[in-house]
Amino acid sequence: GPPDPQMRCPSVIEFGKYEIQTWYSSPYPQEYSRLPKLYLCEFCLRYMKSRSILYQHMRKCNWFHPPANEIYRKDDVSVFEVDGNVSTIYCQNLCLLAKLFLDHKTLYYDVEPFLFYVLTQNDSKGCHLVGYFSKEKHCQQKYNVSCIMILPQYQRKGYGRFLIDFSYLLSKREGQPGSPEKPLSDLGRLSYMAYWRSVVLECLHEIRDRQLTIRKLSKITGILRWLIFIDYTWVIILRREKLVASHMARLKAKPRLLEVDPDCLRWTPVI
Ligand code: COA
Ligand code: NA
Repeated sequence: GPPDPQMRCPSVIEFGKYEIQTWYSSPYPQEYSRLPKLYLCEFCLRYMKSRSILYQHMRKCNWFHPPANEIYRKDDVSVFEVDGNVSTIYCQNLCLLAKLFLDHKTLYYDVEPFLFYVLTQNDSKGCHLVGYFSKEKHCQQKYNVSCIMILPQYQRKGYGRFLIDFSYLLSKREGQPGSPEKPLSDLGRLSYMAYWRSVVLECLHEIRDRQLTIRKLSKITGILRWLIFIDYTWVIILRREKLVASHMARLKAKPRLLEVDPDCLRWTPVI
């Protein structure tokens, strides 16, 4: 589990209406990270040393959404595509924030080669950050997600799955199956496994094609055929009748609250 609070720097952040216990340390400049609590602007992600500085800032800060094009909106959920080369400070601050919930090393400062897909939940006050994933602009290894994070107060509600699904929707639009960068964290692995499992089962349910191959599945889903996906899919295909039936019954009993609607994407791939 996460290290002792005394070992984490900072151990708490104030973020919008939330006070969030951190999971890991993040390399904020030392005079900030050694503070027990850090105050963040939930819109521009600037970090500050005290609540009074934050309040002063909030009176002046005129950001109400990430600094980028909104490429997806449905109901009160949006996705913004932020370019690390254009909104460098914002993206660096986003990475510093993400590191508080990520065990392994991630990038913080070299954000220029990445795009950041930022998920927000919107109300009359603005577009509130829920989470994001980063993606390399030009990736030899066909990674479609470099780093993915959902803030703790929004976890286990389907937002992670939404972003994973969204990353594969972009891959499908690019005509290039993709795959997340390895290694995955434990939570990343659990989320991807749950996602692949449901996608494969729902594909088998819809298509009812005895000859469905992993190659075809990859084309339909945007999921690059890498080893654990293939092993996993074989297990599913061999037991398809039972697994599909029980999965569909479970989904019917507990429908998803949030789904990506491909018709709401306004986006063309960078060439
Ligand atoms: N325990 C067990 N299963 C979990 C889990 C947990 N804590 N979190 C996710 N899962 C699995 C479940 O099967 C879940 O479906 P269910 O809730 O219907 O059972 C499925 O993953 C998807 O959950 P979802 O609610 O869509 O994910 P999330 O919004 O909580 O986001 C992460 C998932 C990985 C993005 C989030 O946990 C996170 O940001 N973790 C910290 C950063 C990180 O590790 N990122 C991955 C780097 S590779
Ligand atoms: Na993949």
